Amino acid sequence: MDAREMKIKAAEAALAHVESGMRLGIGTGSTAEEFVRLLAEKVAGGFRVEGVPTSERTARLCVELGVPLKSLDELPALDLTIDGADEVDQALRLIKGGGGALLREKIVAAASERMIVIADESKLVETLGAFALPIEVNPFGLVSTRIAIDKVAARLGLSGELTLRQSGDGEFTTDGGHHIIDASFGRIPDAEALSSELNSIPGVVEHGLFINMAALAIIAGPAGARTLQ
Ligand code: 5RP
Repeated sequence: MDAREMKIKAAEAALAHVESGMRLGIGTGSTAEEFVRLLAEKVAGGFRVEGVPTSERTARLCVELGVPLKSLDELPALDLTIDGADEVDQALRLIKGGGGALLREKIVAAASERMIVIADESKLVETLGAFALPIEVNPFGLVSTRIAIDKVAARLGLSGELTLRQSGDGEFTTDGGHHIIDASFGRIPDAEALSSELNSIPGVVEHGLFINMAALAIIAGPAGARTLQ
């Protein structure tokens, strides 16, 4: 089974948690897109859902495939969000933001009664941090914000490169007009402490540590999908 087939398996298992009539948060990334494709088939067959997309990219795919969308302001309380992740640990702590959508993903997940994470087994880790942590920052005062992130990291015994994410023609810009610093800490033994320290830096808009947000994770491997909760 290749990585795409595992993503489809995880997405199929997540679809079993979706009931007709639900208000759904719809994640971003290649795994979430497999979920959107399966959901669109159900919608074409008469299944009723209203989705709130976590990125412009997801919104475009939903429109193309006929999944009905609303804004989060129209549907401020959601039943369920289904989203991918860059890393998942056994306590369901996540690193997200590889696709640059972490701010809207976190807002949508927080507005949802439940969040289900879907991933192939390469995303399951003992300790978070091998994947560089995406930190969404305001473009104003970028140098000061970098220094503040470095100081926080040093206080917590972390070190590593802080790389300003680039896209083809310059700095990567998120749907919200911010930039992303990818922090290669290597290993994050205390994700809770790092999360609250990063939240205290004014130039940090949000970061990719999702703690106490996922209710369950569906992890797919060659033998099929299993659930962590
Ligand atoms: C986007 C995300 C994605 O969910 C994460 O990057 C996983 O993506 P993929 O399913 O393509 O591996 O957080 O901001």
